[in-house]
This record gives sequence, structure tokens and C-alpha cells, in this order.
Amino acid sequence: MRLLDLHLAPLAFALFCGCIAATFSRMAGLARWWTIIQLLFVPAAVLMLSLNIPPGFFLIAFLIMLALYWSTFRTQVPLYLSSKQIWHALVNQLPPATPGASFRFIDLGSGLGGVLTHLARARPDGHYSGVESAPLPFLWSWLRTRRQPNCTVHWGSIWDNKLGVCDLAQYDVVFAYLSPVPMARLWHKARSEMRPGSLFISSTFTVPEHAPHRTLQVDDLHHSTLLIWRM
Ligand SMILES: C[S@@+](CC[C@H](N)C(=O)[O-])C[C@H]1O[C@@H](n2cnc3c(N)ncnc32)[C@H](O)[C@@H]1O
Repeated sequence: MRLLDLHLAPLAFALFCGCIAATFSRMAGLARWWTIIQLLFVPAAVLMLSLNIPPGFFLIAFLIMLALYWSTFRTQVPLYLSSKQIWHALVNQLPPATPGASFRFIDLGSGLGGVLTHLARARPDGHYSGVESAPLPFLWSWLRTRRQPNCTVHWGSIWDNKLGVCDLAQYDVVFAYLSPVPMARLWHKARSEMRPGSLFISSTFTVPEHAPHRTLQVDDLHHSTLLIWRM
């Protein structure tokens, strides 16, 4: 009996392997979504092999993923984007417009540059910077912002103060939408560099043991929260 030009036996064996892997992941107490991945990974690999896709396809897919996610395995911060509702909520957190005065805003891990371009259009009296470590999002945001004179993106790590742009003392508002993993380290950086009175805003992820001064519930798909600290 054949399925997709594939003998059923390898698929059945792959399912058997998947069941064992899923059982082990349950026993190890991994999150529930891991069970589904463990269950389906080997059968999916067997099915893919049966399609006889040229190996170059996988190489190209891998290179695109690499350029998109880069060092996520190390930073533990993947690319996902703030909603438009977050962009709008951020506009209201910017310093009040004052004739002849300006302010500086940075998005740490600026992704595709959506936050920066929206704010730069909504409040042209500010200067907006972004730092992004993954090459493809950086390139995308660089192309997106190059016609906006009050907006610049830099390729590099938010932890690299040699970049100049990552010294948080220069900013009135620092925004980050990262993950739970870097928050304690980021708080330490913000506390040691940011000026008194400036704002530190984290989307979704809190700082362990440091409650925000204010929170703002945003009516988007994920019911996001902006956590706001005045330094
Ligand atoms: C969750 S996304 C947020 C994107 C964007 N700020 C937004 O709100 O739509 C986080 C981004 O931070 C980037 N990132 C993670 N760690 C970084 C680091 N150490 N330095 C620079 N960028 C980083 C990731 O590549 C990713 O694009």
C-alpha cells in the first residue's frame, strides 16, 4: 500500500517514533505545544522526503530563516510585531509637543521598523532610533525609514554600547518589545543609563521584582499591556 508515493511502513514507523517522543516530552514536563511538535516532526520529515523536493529549496529556506531570526537561539527573542493599537498607544506616551523643542525615542530590537515609522509620521517633532540585530528585518526597516529624516535604524546588538546609539542616556523614551529572558538585564541597563524623568516602556514583558509605575491595557488581538516606568 502506497501513500504519496511512499510505503506506509516508514510512515507508520515515523508515527510510532513521534508517539514515543511525545510521551517523553509529556514526562519531562515540557509545555503542551511541544507534544504536538514532537508527535508530528518525524512523520512530517518522512512525508517531506517523499515529495522529492530539490535540496536547494531547503538551503534557501534555511538561509531566509537565518537572515530573519539570526541569533534568536542565543537572545531568546524572536521576531514578532507590535500591533497598530500599540503604535497608537505609544503616540500618547511621547513627551508633549513644545515649540522649538524635540525629544528622542529608541526602539530596542526594532524589527521591521513599524513602531518607528508610525511614530515618526505621527509626531515629526521627535527623533527616532532603532537597533536591530537580525539582517533581514534590519534591511527591511532601513529601506522603510531611509526617506524619513527623523528616523534611523542601526544594525547591531542592544547590548553593544560601542554602537553609540545604545547608550540610553540620550533618550526621553526607551521602548522594548522583547521576551521575558532579557528583561532583568535590560532593567539593569536602563537603571544605570537612563536620565531621571525619562520613560522606559516595555510591551507585554515585565521586569522581575520591579512593578511598573503604570500599565496600559491595549485593545488588540493579544490584549497586550504596555508597562511603563518613569526613571
Ligand atoms: C518582538 S520583536 C519586536 C519588533 C518591534 N520592536 C515591534 O515592536 O514591532 C523583537 C526584535 O528584537 C530583535 N532583537 C532581539 N535581541 C536583540 C539584540 N540583542 N539586539 C538587537 N535586536 C535584538 C529581534 O531580532 C526582533 O526583531
